[in-house]
Amino acid sequence: MFTAAVSFVGGSEGDWQVTSTACLRGDPIASATRLSRVAGLDDHPGTVWQLRSFTSNLRYTTSAEKTMLDAKSAPLGRPDSVCGALIPIRKSASWWTLAQDERRQIYEERSRHTSIGLNYLPQIARKLHHCRDLGEPFDFLTWFEFAPAHVALFDELVGRLRETEEWDYVDREIDMRVQLIPR
Ligand code: HEM
Repeated sequence: MFTAAVSFVGGSEGDWQVTSTACLRGDPIASATRLSRVAGLDDHPGTVWQLRSFTSNLRYTTSAEKTMLDAKSAPLGRPDSVCGALIPIRKSASWWTLAQDERRQIYEERSRHTSIGLNYLPQIARKLHHCRDLGEPFDFLTWFEFAPAHVALFDELVGRLRETEEWDYVDREIDMRVQLIPR
């Protein structure tokens, strides 16, 4: 039982309207018009797809970096954060054969993932979900929320990360943009 289990469900129901789905690398995903982010791993029959995941401990972050992240990070669910992005990512076999210290070297020492990301807090709220150990089609489900005024800022962030050495190891990536449906 995963205490922090989260499923992303694509279909014709859900709080978020899917506004675009871009397949950047690897196989595409079936198109859905709505998205929901729900607790648990239970089946959601009658939907187009379901991606299962869980939140987990940090792997590569130092205590100094964690202090900076904690100080600048914003929570999900801010009232003005009506724009979202679900970016499912799979990394290649060559990434997973590396040792932990080699992965940290690429992730932060050479690609500056956390250093770059820190510049975009607190405007962009984020949550990382892991799914490799569940045998899912992706290794990570990355989820972001931001205000309409920060769409360009988010595009700049993903553009910078995609130019890094870390992204040489990404072999499947979908960039799905969503908008919260007013109640
Ligand atoms: C908003 C700014 C961002 C910050 C502050 C940030 C920070 C982080 C941190 C702290 C981790 C966890 C490292 C660890 O396990 O110790 C992480 C992992 C990750 N982030 Fe980001 N990130 C940001 C944006 C993004 C974006 C836009 C994407 C996707 C396009 C992304 C994709 C990932 C992935 C796939 C991982 C897992 C890496 C791995 O374990 O191999 N991040 N990020």
